[in-house]
Amino acid sequence: MRLIIQDNYELASKWAANYIARKIILAQPTTEKPYVLGLPTGSSPLGIYRELIKLHQAGVVSFKNVVTFNMDEYVGIPKDHPQSYYTFMWTNFFSHIDIRPENANLLNGNAPDLKAECQAYEDKIKTYGGIDLFLGGIGADGHVAFNEPGSSLASRTRDKELNFDTKVANSRFFDNDVNKVPDSSLTVGVGTVMDSKEVLIIVNGYNKARALQHAIEEGVNHMWTISALQLHPRGMIVCDEPATYEL
Ligand code: GLP
Repeated sequence: MRLIIQDNYELASKWAANYIARKIILAQPTTEKPYVLGLPTGSSPLGIYRELIKLHQAGVVSFKNVVTFNMDEYVGIPKDHPQSYYTFMWTNFFSHIDIRPENANLLNGNAPDLKAECQAYEDKIKTYGGIDLFLGGIGADGHVAFNEPGSSLASRTRDKELNFDTKVANSRFFDNDVNKVPDSSLTVGVGTVMDSKEVLIIVNGYNKARALQHAIEEGVNHMWTISALQLHPRGMIVCDEPATYEL
């Protein structure tokens, strides 16, 4: 596993955005195949999205030949709800770049058959030959996407109940009212993320320090699902200085 430590969040975000932009640029002239990115929501990737938008606006990178698959989505809130991950992605990223709307894939948390929705998502990822680079963040309990502690490290895209800690953490987006946070989600599995050719995880802030310590220094463990990254041949964590305080 590669660990890239930057002095602060801004530098970590810049580092990761430059890395991703370079991958997209290098992939484009050589192949007709789109570059396939896995993408997260949350506050951690916002700096990366801001930097990628700047690079796009400066004419450095185009997303015309990029296909994206988001990690997760809440179940049971409308697509246009201010806190849906669909709204988050369009507000914070997609509407500022030149991605083709049909290439921006998100799970539909309102699908009539959630199991079929998850299977179709896995199948669609396969039609592109898998994900080239999965960008992710982690929760303070080391969860990746919505793979809460105890999730199988071989898990695939499925519906998953949110645990209480995650609901409390995410209640800051729902008027600080934990009862307004949806009870469940659709999420790619740990196995889905780990099947990607590369995985890049952004970790920032002191409140993620314990999770980072478990991800790097403790054993592979389903209670800290990000620790599965230790088994990935091209796993990378980009973090700021405060996130390293427990290492
Ligand atoms: C949610 C998301 C995760 C994200 C985590 C941490 O649980 N499903 O993908 O990594 O929150 O979010 P933040 O970056 O805001 O700390």
